[in-house]
Amino acid sequence: MATILAIETSCDETSIAITRDGKLLANIINSQVEFHQKYGGVMPEIASRLHCENIALVLVEALEKSDVKLEDIDAFAVTRGPGLIGALHVGLQAAKTLAMLYQKPLIPVHHLAGHIYANEFHSPLKFPLLAVVVSGGNSELVLMKDHFDFTVIGRTRDDAIGECYDKVARVLGLPYPGGVPIDRLAKEGQPTYDLPTPLMGVDTYDMSFSGLKTNVINLVHKLKQREEKLRIADLCRSFQEVAVSVVVQRTIKAIKEFQVKQVILAGGVSANSHLREEMKSVAQKLGVHISIPPLWCCTDNAAMIAKAAEHLYKRQVFADLDLGVDSNWTIENWDEF
Ligand code: KG4
Repeated sequence: MATILAIETSCDETSIAITRDGKLLANIINSQVEFHQKYGGVMPEIASRLHCENIALVLVEALEKSDVKLEDIDAFAVTRGPGLIGALHVGLQAAKTLAMLYQKPLIPVHHLAGHIYANEFHSPLKFPLLAVVVSGGNSELVLMKDHFDFTVIGRTRDDAIGECYDKVARVLGLPYPGGVPIDRLAKEGQPTYDLPTPLMGVDTYDMSFSGLKTNVINLVHKLKQREEKLRIADLCRSFQEVAVSVVVQRTIKAIKEFQVKQVILAGGVSANSHLREEMKSVAQKLGVHISIPPLWCCTDNAAMIAKAAEHLYKRQVFADLDLGVDSNWTIENWDEF
């Protein structure tokens, strides 16, 4: 095993983690959420600038917290994609500089592989498994027959589920990011609004969320025009039940078709209480193991990048110093850079 320093700057969290022999020594996360809140979403240029301002401070904090010196690091890992291009560049330049100065390997990590491997902080992966990756930028069903053997069996055809939560929250006047307030309000409401389920009756593992978002927006506008009262908690509950059912229905189909032993949740939306409950009950009914990451590692953080990097270190998946970022990197091509 080894001492690994991992950097994550793919969106609006500047994060650096240090692991030694698999043990997490530090995981510093500097969230920019308050700066993006007034825009109702992440402003890419602001995200890049804030990463530039914060990264050195986050590095110092991670070294202090872990009581590790840069000379003791065996490899520098970094999220190479997917994500916001300018934001990714900040992390990559930092990692390359450290790898060059300390003459240590540079490990490029796929962001979604990080989300998937976050699960290893609390339970080992059991193959074949289905990873349900649901975040602000991605919604994918990934089949894994072994470590770093990824087959995407379904993905969103338009918006990611988290993006849909954030946009619905905006139209309801709720703060950004929208997942947490919608999840909270949904518990107080009833599913009284009738929202159509996207891709209903279509035999596919693909998902779609933009039609659902448009339905909510149209409903809100219609109620306003008619000067009818909008029952926000009920709408949150109605929306959440449909959004979660899109993911759950496909998970059930995949468990049966691919005979998976384990289902793992990954990405920011895996913090959703309704999704967690539904997945637990599906797993119990179908007799598969379910792994749900602890809340601290559902949203973006560098600890998950370090976890994936431990595997890559063993396989000696190292990059040269001319490595570039790839904002659209697909997980199936995790070793092409
Ligand atoms: O994984 P993440 O930090 O960023 C990406 O890699 O995209 O996920 C952020 C997303 C946001 O869209 C946020 O609204 C959503 O995760 N999220 C939730 C919940 N907590 C965070 N969505 C639904 N329910 C939640 N409890």
